[in-house]
Amino acid sequence: MKIAIDGPAGAGKSTVAKKVAHELGYVYIDTGAMYRALTYKAIQDQVDLHNGEALAALLAKYPVELLVENNQQKVKINHQDVTEYIRTPEISKYVSTVAAQEQVRKTMLMIQRSLAAKGNVIMDGRDIGTNVLPDADLKIFLTATIEERAKRRYQELLTKGYKGSFEEIKQEIASRDKQDQERKYAPLKQAGDAILIDTSKLTIDQVVNHILQLVKEYQEGDKNELI
Ligand code: CDP
Ligand code: CDP
Repeated sequence: MKIAIDGPAGAGKSTVAKKVAHELGYVYIDTGAMYRALTYKAIQDQVDLHNGEALAALLAKYPVELLVENNQQKVKINHQDVTEYIRTPEISKYVSTVAAQEQVRKTMLMIQRSLAAKGNVIMDGRDIGTNVLPDADLKIFLTATIEERAKRRYQELLTKGYKGSFEEIKQEIASRDKQDQERKYAPLKQAGDAILIDTSKLTIDQVVNHILQLVKEYQEGDKNELI
């Protein structure tokens, strides 16, 4: 079974997808972490973030790996563990520019499809239901108000020693969403056959249970078709 989860920043995609994957014993694929790892490496190597060809070459040269070590989700690029460095405001600021480049998206698409081919997966991002896995068995579009999403991200960053303001985070999220929605290649968009869940007033567990229920309904429907 392939499950696609898309939506804007801070909607709860990765938190929820990780839990659903754990409950079902599926592999979780965080495609945002892949774009973030590439952005980190590009900044480190001083590659022009508007140069799609150079960025795609970087991605071809330095493999991005998603793995689970000691129950922790990790991301590596060129075998370096960059998990701790990719969620900083600096990477958040530049990642959408990198992700807007056509050559980068083409290379990511190939890598992500081959990862998804390995078995039961739940993959989250911006273009999973529309582009990476258009034939996914279940597509979810998670959203929440900008206030709520900014509040969540701000609280998360505070625990990591962040000193900036709530307004800065809100603006960062709003401008990244806008960039992701307006880009030419595979923009952030709800797939026509995706189920919309507004998580503004829901707890993480409520969202997880809702999705598990949808998976169950899908699987029961599949069984009935066989009979
Ligand atoms: O966790 P958060 O929602 O803040 O972001 P993320 O899922 O880590 O994604 C970071 C950025 O990567 C997004 O803002 C997009 O620019 C890009 N992205 C994308 O273009 N396509 C995807 N499938 C996943 C992420
Ligand atoms: O991956 P995405 O950017 O969509 O969001 P996330 O990183 O999974 O979630 C952002 C923050 O919101 C996390 O700290 C979650 O614990 C929190 N969250 C929440 O408080 N209530 C929800 N219903 C979902 C997420």
